[in-house]
Amino acid sequence: MKNPFDLTGQVALITGSSRGIGRSIAEIMASMGAKVVVSSRKADACEEVASAIRKSGGDAHVIPCNIGRKEEVELLHRKTIEKYGKLDALVCNAAVNPYYGPLGGISDDQFDKIMATNIKSNLWLANLAVPGMAERGGGTVTIISSIGGIRGSAILGAYGISKAADFALARALAVEWGPKNVRVNCIAPGLVKTDFAKALWEDEANLKRRLVTTPLRRIGEPEDIGGIAAFLAAPAGAFITGQVIVADGGVTIGS
Ligand SMILES: NC(=O)c1ccc[n+]([C@@H]2O[C@H](COP(=O)([O-])OP(=O)(O)OC[C@H]3O[C@@H](n4cnc5c(N)ncnc54)[C@H](OP(=O)(O)O)[C@@H]3O)[C@@H](O)[C@H]2O)c1
Repeated sequence: MKNPFDLTGQVALITGSSRGIGRSIAEIMASMGAKVVVSSRKADACEEVASAIRKSGGDAHVIPCNIGRKEEVELLHRKTIEKYGKLDALVCNAAVNPYYGPLGGISDDQFDKIMATNIKSNLWLANLAVPGMAERGGGTVTIISSIGGIRGSAILGAYGISKAADFALARALAVEWGPKNVRVNCIAPGLVKTDFAKALWEDEANLKRRLVTTPLRRIGEPEDIGGIAAFLAAPAGAFITGQVIVADGGVTIGS
């Protein structure tokens, strides 16, 4: 029987994969057989990830890209096809949050930046990648969203709006492209120990409150998310589309 978690033969592109959740996704997908494109704004940091993957026997290639810039996003897709000839699994992982505070205090520039980077760039990438997947009989797009898109927050309002929009983006694309066997899903992590969320888990009082209300009594590690992204791209995930997979230690379902 074929291993339902095997990614051999797939080419995967993961944005924001120089560290944190994206790095874990790239490493786990490569360990399951995918050729991976490692991408972020900083080529050096990406090269370190790619060379670690190669040392472990995987296949990885670096293409730097700021996902907020359309011309760079187009180049990212073009260079992926030039290098590997196709793209099977797109993981839209990179996102930004330049503003912590109440929605009443956010500037137009901050709001626009969050929406452009966290939503519009995912649409750019999907629109570039999905037609090729459809032509070849299928593929996957996985968007790393957040439980911030499910719950209200007094300090992360705009970020939450952008992450909730990702759910709708995934559902719309899943309906549009399902007939061509392109599956589009979101993962919604809870608090994960990365640089992005440092302000939340470094604050001891905040962490304590969080742990008490989290059934698993811990915050996430990047690998908790990396494996889910790999699963969604694998044959094991073949009947899942348009969904939001929450991975948060249970914080949204109980206290
Ligand atoms: N950590 C959490 O608690 C948590 C919870 C829920 C959801 N998430 C989501 O998980 C995803 C990854 O976050 P993370 O926690 O792994 O963050 P992280 O450790 O800070 O890593 C972010 C990655 O994105 C890259 N990046 C940042 N801005 C970029 C841009 N404009 N263009 C391209 N790459 C960019 C960074 O590299 P460069 O600096 O080199 O560009 C880095 O590789 C995000 O979508 C985030 O919203 C995180």
